[in-house]
Amino acid sequence: MTTPAIEVFFADPPLLHYWPNQKQWNTGGFSGPSLRELHALVLREAGERPRICETGAGNTTIAMLLAQPAELVSIAPRQDLFDRILAYCDSRGISTTSLTPCIERSEVALPPLAAREIAADTWFDVGIIDGGHGWPTVFVDFCYLHAILRPRGLLLVDDIQLHSVGELARFLQEDPGFELVQTLEGGKALVFRKLREQRFLPDFGGQPYIQRMSRRDAPPRAEA
Ligand SMILES: C[S@@+](CC[C@H](N)C(=O)[O-])C[C@H]1O[C@@H](n2cnc3c(N)ncnc32)[C@H](O)[C@@H]1O
Repeated sequence: MTTPAIEVFFADPPLLHYWPNQKQWNTGGFSGPSLRELHALVLREAGERPRICETGAGNTTIAMLLAQPAELVSIAPRQDLFDRILAYCDSRGISTTSLTPCIERSEVALPPLAAREIAADTWFDVGIIDGGHGWPTVFVDFCYLHAILRPRGLLLVDDIQLHSVGELARFLQEDPGFELVQTLEGGKALVFRKLREQRFLPDFGGQPYIQRMSRRDAPPRAEA
């Protein structure tokens, strides 16, 4: 009996990425067990045939395709990466009909995508932030994915060991508009549920992390 494609994938995710500094092909940061957990969480919590939008393509793309989304918008600037994803799916009989590859930086792709969603009053059920990991890309991704993520939708933030992404994770952990629902990959990735109804965050007065850090960083007042 042949092993189903989904089991083959979670047991041995393909080496889709090559990073010159590491000089070897790799899976992209998620192990098979974490991809399986993410897939199960989306099936359990995101509703039937979810709409999913991710920055950074790779094995998360395949794991999300296996959740049979109505739509998966995957944003990454590299055609060759999508060619490898499509070739893998094709060779394993994994449907890619719901996939819209967006070969572009997220900073360019997300603003018009969000504008269309807002104009049409439509929402995504799942957002994944795993594209560019530096300043300000992580926060650009967060701003627009937050705007298109429905209330009670899921937001995955990967690579919180990096200070840039870590700042976003610390912000979210204190934000009443989010609750932590799962940690993945030994704590390097967190999944939050959006509790807020609005598409945009309140200004700094409604942001507990910014309030707390501003108090911490305030210069001592001169004695009268
Ligand atoms: C850590 S890898 C992605 C991993 C992917 N989620 C996976 O599970 O394999 C980061 C990806 O983000 C892409 N990327 C880098 N900068 C980006 C940007 N500004 N916008 C969108 N994607 C970007 C890279 O091409 C790379 O494929």
